[in-house]
Order: sequence, then structure tokens, then C-alpha cells
Amino acid sequence: YCKTYILGIETSCDDTGAAVVDNGGNILGEALNSQTDIHVQLGGIIPPVARDLHRQNIDDVVKLAMDRAKLKYEELNAIAVTVKPGLALSLAVGINYAKDLALKFRKPLIPIHHMEAHALTPRIETRIDFPYLVLLASGGHCLLAAAQGVDQFKLIGKGQDNSPGEAFDKIARRLKLITLPGMQGLSGGAAIEQLAQRGDPKSIEFPNSLSKHPNCNFSFAGLQTQANYFIAEIEKQNDIKGPEVIPGVADFCASFQYAITRHICQRVQRGLIYSDMKELITTDKKQMVLSGGVGSNMFVRRSLEKVCKHYNFELVCPPPKLCTDNGVMIAWNGMERLNANCGVLEDESAIKLVDL
Ligand code: KG4
Ligand code: ZN
Repeated sequence: YCKTYILGIETSCDDTGAAVVDNGGNILGEALNSQTDIHVQLGGIIPPVARDLHRQNIDDVVKLAMDRAKLKYEELNAIAVTVKPGLALSLAVGINYAKDLALKFRKPLIPIHHMEAHALTPRIETRIDFPYLVLLASGGHCLLAAAQGVDQFKLIGKGQDNSPGEAFDKIARRLKLITLPGMQGLSGGAAIEQLAQRGDPKSIEFPNSLSKHPNCNFSFAGLQTQANYFIAEIEKQNDIKGPEVIPGVADFCASFQYAITRHICQRVQRGLIYSDMKELITTDKKQMVLSGGVGSNMFVRRSLEKVCKHYNFELVCPPPKLCTDNGVMIAWNGMERLNANCGVLEDESAIKLVDL
């Protein structure tokens, strides 16, 4: 049978990613440059800084992915690139680069929706049939949806304020975790997960958010505010004014991670009941996909697994490195769109270039 190859390019936020996949779901070559380290030091993502880093790295990242795939640009069938949602300045770097390549080698360009790419990722290696539920929990988003087709998603619940990843990142920064040995280069969520392993999740009690709201939306702002308040209290009690980390930081991390996870699980539980009522998932084997950076958290995974099992759903999680932003998911979404015959741009004028 005939092989098709797609190059995927991702620059929506702070990761420059590229990968080549074939129509059999094989990852032929991939490369990633993460900016997390620099953004953690600066205290958050500054869009022009992210753009400059994408610009510096994109050429190397794409060439490395192509080298590893042992393919020439001429052999590609299409180029897929994230066009939304994301930071406009960051997106533009990838879009412009992909567009240049597409023009130079006369390849069709496939515009990719970043969240749809997260949602379709596990189909690259696992048999998952539509419709299925998907929970995306990342640094920019929290949403629960029914995936009904390659470009068909029904939103069931969404974050009302900040995202779980943002809550993890802000609290990790407030806790000064980056100053602890072994924490450099980790995202806020990953740092909290590591410390939480040695802590007691029941040591500090956080309030429940939205428990009386009859929908499937999410809210993390209240938990973040409460966490900041608790940290300030502990600092006051221990007369901490400088860069020292609070005593019992592992217990704090475990409790905070537990609170975030409990909220996610309770809202998803409502979503599972709702999807049953509305008969959204009609397959014999009901499945839910968990993806996005927060989906790489093992405590979140294990807890959600329990909830899913109770409602006869199987929880499917991509491997952690495919949960966070990467080029593979963009290339694979391109392949899905190509196979489903949707949204291939033969005419490059359909993508409006963003002025920088
Ligand atoms: O999906 P992603 O790479 O980028 C977005 O599209 O946002 O997600 C990044 C987010 C960050 O906020 C990071 O703190 C969080 O995912 N994250 C984690 C873990 N690893 C990354 N959160 C909790 N536990 C983790 N192990
Ligand atoms: Zn993402």
C-alpha cells in the first residue's frame, strides 16, 4: 500500500516542536525545544520572548525531525501546522515557517487546531473509535468534550477562570520550588507532583469549588487564592521573609495536588453522568481520553481512572511526552484530516500571515 508522510509543526505556546509521521501511525522522526526553563526563571511566559526563542530554534528543530525521519522535503505529502488557539506571536513563527516550506516544495498546508490535536493524539497508537469523551487539562485550558469525528467536537464543560496547569505553575512559583535541588527545568506541575509523592494529601484541607453548580464547568481560581492564603499564613507563623521554602512543603504540595485532582474528578463525574443521560457515547466500549500537560500527572491519572471505571469507561492516556505540547500530535492530526478529506489548504492565501 501507498505510504503518506506528513511533517507537523507546533509553536502555539512555549514549545517548538516538529515531527514526521506516516499513515500507519509510525513516528519517523521528532524534535522538540522546550522553553520552560527560561520562562520559569522569568516568572511566566512573556510573548515576545517566546516568539524570539521560536525564531531562534524552529529551523534546527524542523531539520532535526526531518533528518531523524531520513526523508527529503520532496517526499512529504503535506505540512501541518498549528494555527489556533495560542499566543499570536508564537503561532505566527510556525505558520510563517510552514508556509514558506509549503510554497518552496509545493506541498499542501493543513491548518491544525491545537486542542483538537491534543484530543486525537492517542489514536496514533491505540484503537479508539468515535464518539469518545476527552478531557484536556493543560496550561492554557481545561475542557471536557465529546469527540464525534476528526473535526467534530461537542463541548460539555470548560474552565471558567484559569487552568489547572496555570494554578500548578503559579503555586509552584509562590512556593519557590525552583530553588530546591533537582527542581530546575521542571514545569510547576511536574515539580509539585514530585514533591507530593513524599507528602500527606490530607494534611491541609482545601475547599470544594463549584460543588453546587449544576454543570460540568471547572474553576481553579478559588483553589489558587486559597493556596496563596495558606502559604502566607505558614510564612507568617514561621517568620519567613526571604527565599526559604515553607516547612512541610511536601505535605502542602500533596494537599494542593489532591484538591486540584478532586475538583477535576468531581466535574468529570458530572460529565460522565451527563453523557449517559444524553446518550453521547454510543460505542460498545466507552472510552475517555485524558490529555494536555496536566494529563501527564500520575495522581490525576490514577484518580480519574477510578471515576471512569465506576461508570464503565476506559481511561486512555497518551504517554506523558505526547500529553505536553509536541510536533507529533500536529503531524498526526494532519494525517487524520488528510484521511478524512477535511481542511487541506491547496491555496496558501487561505492562511493570513500575521505581521510581526
Ligand atoms: O499541554 P501543555 O504542554 O501546554 C499547554 O498547551 O498549555 O501543558 C503545560 C502545563 C503546564 O502548566 C505544566 O505545569 C503542566 O502542564 N504540567 C503538569 C505536569 N507536567 C506538566 N501538571 C501537573 N503534573 C505534571 N506532571
Ligand atoms: Zn497544549
